[in-house]
Amino acid sequence: MKKLVALGVMVVGVGLAGLAQAAITNSAHDFTDGVKGLKGNSGTPTAVDESWNARGEICRVCHVPHDHARASQRYLNGLLWNHGVSVASYTMYDTAWSSTITGAQSAQPDGTSKLCLACHDGTVAIDTFDKYAGGAILFDGTATGYAAGYKVPGFLDGDKLDLRGTHPISIAFPAGQAGDGKNFTDPATATWMDNATVASTLDNGKMQCSTCHDVHSSTGGVATGSHLLRQAQTVEQGGVASGLCLTCHVK
Ligand code: HEC
Ligand code: HEC
Ligand code: HEC
Ligand code: HEC
Repeated sequence: MKKLVALGVMVVGVGLAGLAQAAITNSAHDFTDGVKGLKGNSGTPTAVDESWNARGEICRVCHVPHDHARASQRYLNGLLWNHGVSVASYTMYDTAWSSTITGAQSAQPDGTSKLCLACHDGTVAIDTFDKYAGGAILFDGTATGYAAGYKVPGFLDGDKLDLRGTHPISIAFPAGQAGDGKNFTDPATATWMDNATVASTLDNGKMQCSTCHDVHSSTGGVATGSHLLRQAQTVEQGGVASGLCLTCHVK
């Protein structure tokens, strides 16, 4: 009996250790712990009132198992989505801006990018989830809000919802340009640091915010200072220089 108990403790211990490594608990997207700041990163996190998340569930701010009045969004976006989404339109990094991109692209952000922009475009309050109308908790650097730097970085320039300062999103790999001797690695075989293929992080074949960032992680695939990136971007982060970019671009 003693032996069995000891074994149980061991198994639980291993499970928790695994969780602490890369999971969402205690990450920037864990809104149950009353802490804000670059969780997995250097710097001192500051306290914040997260009592708006009254049930204290992690997943519920974004996903729900049953309808809590965000059904229209859920049916539009899938993934049992439980957060309000933005109705904004954006200026895209598209062929009107760059004459050299050729991948098939959506006219506006769609799929999982639309879900990130549901908070990160700064127009929808972060507490707009479940049955709650949402209030003033935004990326506005106020006492109740989160740091403005967490908005889509290019948006800092005057709130213009201009994505031309952000890597193209909602875009497919250009046809015929991926594979040996081509401009891009083959997404079916190229892998991120956690060994997931690039293809598995595309959304209907398209590159989105979640292709580069892992929303369910505390550190991304890498060590601290990672911005939740799936691949180290520096030697300091434990990878090669520009490792993120070189995972896809053959340059
Ligand atoms: C429910 C709102 C919400 C959604 C949806 C959301 N985020 Fe966030 N995100 C936040 C908040 C709030 C912070 C800042 C948290 C803090 O200061 O602790 C943040 C922080 C981040 C950070 C910075 C983390 C760091 O440690 O550097 C990144 C990167 C990020 N989010 C990317 C994404 C991506 C990509 C998606 C979609 C796949 C997404 N987020 C979806 C609210 C959201
Ligand atoms: C801040 C918002 C946010 C929170 C909190 C969150 N998710 Fe997600 N989740 C997303 C987004 C955005 C996607 C789509 C992008 C992706 O798959 O990376 C997603 C995708 C998923 C998927 C389908 C794709 C996959 O990665 O398997 C599952 C399953 C999932 N989430 C489960 C969970 C669970 C369980 C929790 C709580 C422990 C959770 N999520 C917490 C935003 C969130
Ligand atoms: C998941 C794969 C992937 C990753 C990672 C990635 N890219 Fe891209 N990148 C693409 C795709 C696909 C396009 C669209 C190409 C097209 O349509 O012609 C693109 C387009 C671009 C463009 C626009 C080119 C033009 O003609 O206007 C630039 C610049 C760029 N990427 C640089 C980068 C940099 C720098 C990084 C690292 C921070 C990076 N990319 C990471 C896949 C990726
Ligand atoms: C090509 C990969 C790539 C794509 C696509 C991408 N990002 Fe990022 N993102 C990065 C990198 C790299 C950083 C680290 C900061 C830097 O190098 O500018 C970053 C930083 C961030 C940060 C943290 C800013 C900070 O100061 O800590 C947030 C939030 C963020 N991105 C959200 C998004 C959202 C939302 C989208 C989709 C609209 C998106 N990203 C698309 C690569 C990407």
